[in-house]
Amino acid sequence: MTAGNNPSVSFRQRLDARVSRCSSVADLAAAVAERFAVLIQQAIADRGRASIVLSGGRTPESYLSAIAAGALPWQRLDFFLSDERWVDEDSPYSNAALIRRALLARDGPSKAHFTAMKNSAATAASGVAAAVAALPPLEQHYDLALLGMGADGHFASLFPGMADLARWLESDNAERLVAVPAPSTAPPPIPRLSMTAAEIKRSRNIVLVLQGKEKMRVLEQAAIEGDVLALPVRALGEVEVIWCP
Ligand code: 6PG
Repeated sequence: MTAGNNPSVSFRQRLDARVSRCSSVADLAAAVAERFAVLIQQAIADRGRASIVLSGGRTPESYLSAIAAGALPWQRLDFFLSDERWVDEDSPYSNAALIRRALLARDGPSKAHFTAMKNSAATAASGVAAAVAALPPLEQHYDLALLGMGADGHFASLFPGMADLARWLESDNAERLVAVPAPSTAPPPIPRLSMTAAEIKRSRNIVLVLQGKEKMRVLEQAAIEGDVLALPVRALGEVEVIWCP
């Protein structure tokens, strides 16, 4: 097979065209903050406000403070979560606590509006309706989704092997959130509530932020056509990526 008609070469070239390769975590944080500011200023210019979906986990620790240092009209920003572990905010596993600590604690960002996903329901499954009610109207698209990816190819809390995964990855699924049992393929093993792929794909822009060679290897594998159930990140399509080793 020659390079010219080798689909993996075309996928790789297309992958390279959408990946910003940073040399360090500091460079990654600066790149994310810069891209965030550009997309948010555009949203505010177009519609007066900007709505952003943030993810949790460890990677956001490396860039949220760089975003928080930006000179933005924070009172015009509305933040949401892509997913949440079903724990209260005093838990070290809470994504809402991460956002409040790493982004919203600073004077400027404290003026932004943040909608946490965890509510008073005892379980994620019983909390779905109230969490959906807290989301923006269905016809209102998010301006940016800043997502991570696990080494198993999951995004949000849409994990390989989870029940009915195909349904949660479908682009035209009207369901907005899904209760997810404790995953076995990525830590922490805590039940979650997650946006569906359809909910996330209502974002005008999606940026994946990844750290490490293992995740780049997974991303390269995902860029070659294959089973979306094996690597759920494939459901996002050819989105922007900001990466560092
Ligand atoms: C979560 C996140 C999740 C995260 C990936 C990557 O609740 O864990 O929303 O989707 O983005 O698991 O996590 P790391 O950045 O910790 O590798």
